Amino acid sequence: MFDPERTPADLITLRPQYLSEYIGQNTIKKRLNLAISAAKIRGEALDHVLLVGPPGLGKTTLAHIIANEMNTNIHVTSGPVLEKQGDVAAILTNLERGDVLFIDEIHRMNKTVEEILYTAMEDFQIDIMIGKGPSARSIRIDLQPFTLVGATTRSGLLSSPLRNRFGLIMEIDFYSESELADIINRAASFLDVEMTKDAALLLSKRSRGTPRIALRLLRRVRDMSTVKDQRVIDIAMVNEIMQLLGIDEEGLDDMDRKILKVIIEVYSGGPVGIKSLAASVGITEDTISEVYEPYLLQSGFIARTPRGRIATQKAYKHLGYSYGGGLFE
Ligand SMILES: Nc1ncnc2c1ncn2[C@@H]1O[C@H](COP(=O)(O)OP(=O)(O)OP(=O)(O)O)[C@@H](O)[C@H]1O
Ligand SMILES: [Mg+2]
Repeated sequence: MFDPERTPADLITLRPQYLSEYIGQNTIKKRLNLAISAAKIRGEALDHVLLVGPPGLGKTTLAHIIANEMNTNIHVTSGPVLEKQGDVAAILTNLERGDVLFIDEIHRMNKTVEEILYTAMEDFQIDIMIGKGPSARSIRIDLQPFTLVGATTRSGLLSSPLRNRFGLIMEIDFYSESELADIINRAASFLDVEMTKDAALLLSKRSRGTPRIALRLLRRVRDMSTVKDQRVIDIAMVNEIMQLLGIDEEGLDDMDRKILKVIIEVYSGGPVGIKSLAASVGITEDTISEVYEPYLLQSGFIARTPRGRIATQKAYKHLGYSYGGGLFE
């Protein structure tokens, strides 16, 4: 029966609150820990932090952790939301000493908004224009020292003046299978489900190195365990869910396979430019380059050449094509 006292499982994000609960990314944790400890000893705001990495690897989570570790408030916004200089000015002038301003998708900010951040980040001051035409004048406003935490899936899209104003640039990488298994086990205990060790490991192997995917898959197997009324999740159940969701042994889903198939069949293995690929597959260029491509590249299914993407031998083999064209007999 529906129980309003229980939070729907899909809304539980299971975000770790402190660095010590954040699994993996050891280098990043060490560097952050040092910077945070030093800032706290000196009673200063933490230097500005840029978090770079594919979706679902824990950038938003880290931003919140930074604020928690610094014992400050976090103000959350995103690049596309900040349309006018006034929008940013309003947020900046409201910040208290040491606060974290988190700007998600910071590469999608427009130029005029970006420019106001330059002096804000560097000197904790902004110049805003009052009035219009000949009587317009600019006034300078002092800000409280704050920490800008920016998140982006692609650092290449950030202008260099903006990039250079971050004191700490952290590249978040895909997680190892054992780290993902730890994340799955931690979440399983929160969700009150039991899993065999092999089942957790199998689930982590299918998660494309990505905590968000691991947690999503966990919730789906949990659904199955609820419906089947089978308390302990085992390998058989994980396999059944993978089949249901169309996820193969490499963790690739229907769209990943479609992308590879199009490169192989339509473009004879490539090279193909991102524009043509996006048009043929039927999704946007951004979705390909931000969501699908990073994992396909990192796991060696596609490679980038100066003339475009190519499908690798691994991709041909995985989809059952003989390298050089034609289906396996
Ligand atoms: N290192 C980690 N340890 C434990 N859980 C994690 C870790 N990293 C991420 N998660 C979990 O994975 C999920 C996705 O993380 P998060 O939302 O921070 O990703 P993101 O990088 O901000 O993604 P996007 O680019 O799509 O905004 C969250 O539910 C978070 O709790
Ligand atoms: Mg996020």
